[in-house]
Order: sequence, then structure tokens, then C-alpha cells
Amino acid sequence: MIIFNIMFFVIYILLAFVVIGYIFLMFKFFEYFYCACVRHQPPFVASPDLSRKLVVSEIIKNYPNAKNICEIGSGFGGLARAVARNTNANVYALENMPFSAFVSKLFDKISFCKNNKTIWCDAFEFLDNTDIKFDVAIAFLGPKLTPCIQKYTDKIKVLISLDFEIGCIKPTRIIEIGHGATIYQNIEYPHRLFVYEF
Ligand SMILES: C[S@@+](CC[C@H](N)C(=O)[O-])C[C@H]1O[C@@H](n2cnc3c(N)ncnc32)[C@H](O)[C@@H]1O
Repeated sequence: MIIFNIMFFVIYILLAFVVIGYIFLMFKFFEYFYCACVRHQPPFVASPDLSRKLVVSEIIKNYPNAKNICEIGSGFGGLARAVARNTNANVYALENMPFSAFVSKLFDKISFCKNNKTIWCDAFEFLDNTDIKFDVAIAFLGPKLTPCIQKYTDKIKVLISLDFEIGCIKPTRIIEIGHGATIYQNIEYPHRLFVYEF
């Protein structure tokens, strides 16, 4: 009898995981299409681990005294939390998709990452209205959105952009990752970091 009870308990737990996973994927798909078709912005694709590590080491090496750091379009917040864990800066993860922002807030709580704050907002509206000056901003957006960041050079001292260039401004440094690329609208953008010191 006890064995049957344990078996049923385990089956219930497994079913609960399947249902939670299914609901998660439903929300994710909905958000993906909403991003692409309604907002015409690149949907959430996580940045590669190696790029994240290089962003963190770039900040530690060249901007160790950064007090305020933001990530423009932070998805589930993995990159922002990696930066927060390795620096003493206040990290603002700015994300405009409600489901991604919700998951990011959940991870902030679970990981006890106290210096990382996820904000559900349009990052550009946030930058328009905030008085905070950011020592470093991080972005992994897309070829159309990345150039919009040049409007905020009064609020951002340094921009680290993953894979995408601002275009008309020459980067201070380009850090090549060496392999892999982001494919956006059938064009390959090799993984690299563009560092702009404004
Ligand atoms: C390619 S993903 C990058 C996710 C994350 N930064 C990473 O490196 O793993 C781009 C994210 O930017 C978000 N995004 C795009 N435009 C935005 C905006 N104007 N304000 C806030 N978030 C935005 C998208 O919803 C998406 O989650």
C-alpha cells in the first residue's frame, strides 16, 4: 500500500512538472510571436555563455568602480544577474515583455541577488525619464534597435553591445569571441562585443 502511495505521489509530481513546463512554453511562444509580429522587435534569445563571461570580465577589468549598470532588454535576466553577482554595482535589468520580466523577477528572488533589480518597462522610455546616470549599459538587441542607444549618451558612459554595432559611431574596442554567430533576418552577426566609451 505504501509503495502504491509513493508511486502515485511521484507520478503526481512528474505530472505537475509537465503541466508547469507546458504552461511555460505556451507563454513563451505567445511572447515570441507578440515580439516579432506586434512589437517588431527581436524576441528573447539568450546570449551565449562565453559572451556573458566576457562582458563580466570586461566590466571587472576596465570599469571596476561602476556604480550603476543597466541591461537594455534583459530577457530572463541571466546576463544582468551574472554582472550583479560579480560586481558591487546596482544592476537594473530592463525588459518590456511581461512574461520574461516576470520570470526574471522570480529568478532574482530565488537567487537572492540583492543588487539586481528587474524592471518591467520599455527600456528607452525608462532612460528618457530617469535621473540615474549609468556607468555601463549592456545591450543584446538587434541591428535596428542598437543604434537607438546613441540618443542616451548623456545618461550612459559606456555601452557594451553584444553582436550588434551602433553603426555611425566607431567602437572604442571590439572583442572577438572567435566562433558562433547570431542570425537575424537571415544575416549572420559573428559573436563579439562592441565597447563604446561616450
Ligand atoms: C536578444 S534578447 C537578449 C536577452 C538577454 N539580454 C540576454 O543577453 O540573454 C533581447 C531582449 O530585449 C527585449 N527588448 C527589446 N526591445 C526592448 C525595449 N525597448 N525595452 C525593453 N526590452 C526590450 C526583448 O523583449 C528581449 O527579451
